[in-house]
Parts: sequence; structure tokens; C-alpha cells
Amino acid sequence: MTDTASVRLELPELADTMRFGAALGSRLRPGDLVLLAGELGAGKTALTKGIAVGMGITETITSPTFVLARVHNGTRDGLPTTLVHVDAYRLGGSVELDDLDLDTDLSRAAVVIEWGEGIAAGLASDPLHIKLIRHPDDSRSAVVSAGARWRDTVSALVPDPA
Ligand SMILES: Nc1ncnc2c1ncn2[C@@H]1O[C@H](COP(=O)(O)OP(=O)(O)O)[C@@H](O)[C@H]1O
Ligand SMILES: [Mg+2]
Repeated sequence: MTDTASVRLELPELADTMRFGAALGSRLRPGDLVLLAGELGAGKTALTKGIAVGMGITETITSPTFVLARVHNGTRDGLPTTLVHVDAYRLGGSVELDDLDLDTDLSRAAVVIEWGEGIAAGLASDPLHIKLIRHPDDSRSAVVSAGARWRDTVSALVPDPA
């Protein structure tokens, strides 16, 4: 694995998760892939809402559990953005993104997949991995890891890794 060392970010409140998501979303580029892990209620959809804000998407983001995937369009710095939000909870490990028949060009979108680790093997891009952990006090932590091409993004998001 060529992953850089994981960095951990503390997210005491929902607003912290939203801010983190927005900072990430403002840096996502077409073709980027983000895989979100963490148990039910950990905050994967909440983080995706923040990512959408950072991409200039004004539509409401809801959990796509029953539709598997949604496509959202926005505008950032005067340029169109596309977020493909997938919930792979119900997908078998063998399913690939192409099978979802999304009526969109994935190379022009940033793709965020909840429960995506299982289908990651079938995806070519070097993904950003974010694992959300819910603590007994209801705060969250995010463990971020990715390959070298994400290094600048990760250091911008987590300026002072512990
Ligand atoms: N620090 C936090 N980060 C993310 N969500 C939080 C946080 N604190 C409380 N929450 C709440 O936890 C829930 C997370 O739900 P959701 O994002 O749908 O989880 P998942 O998609 O991982 O199942 C939301 O109701 C959100 O308001
Ligand atoms: Mg969810």
C-alpha cells in the first residue's frame, strides 16, 4: 500500500464535521474519489453535506441509501461542479460504479462513496479514505489516509497532524 500515514482530526461538534467537509469539498477536483467508512450514524452523510457546500452545491443532500446514488450539480468559482454521492451499504462487493448506470460522466465528477471500502478494489482512482469514529460523548474523529497525490490536500485539511 502506498498510503501516507493516517492523520486524525477531532470533530467535537456537527459544525466541525461540516467545516471539515466544506474545506475538503472546496479542494475536490473532477475524477477525485473519496471513500467514507464508519458505522451507521458516524457522520458519513453529514460530512458529505459539508463536501457539497464546499463544492458550491445548494441542493439538499440526503442519505442515498434507497437509491444507491445521487448526482448533484453546483457552481464553484464560476465553474460547474458535480458531486456523485453513493451509499454502497446495500451493494455487494462485486458491484462497480459503472453498474450503477449513473447518467453522468464520472470523470467530470467528484465521487463520494459511503461504505465504499468494499467496492474500492474495482475503482481505478487513488482514493482518499476517511474513517469516521463516533465516541461515547457523541464527538467524532476522522482518520484520513491516502496516497501521495492527496498529500497537499491532507496537509491543508489537517495542518498539524499529531
Ligand atoms: N461531530 C459530529 N459529526 C457528524 N455528525 C454528528 C456530529 N455530532 C452529532 N452528529 C449527528 O450524528 C448524525 C450522523 O448521521 P449521518 O451523517 O447520517 O451518519 P452516517 O451517514 O455515517 O450513517 C447526524 O444526525 C448528525 O447531526
Ligand atoms: Mg449515511
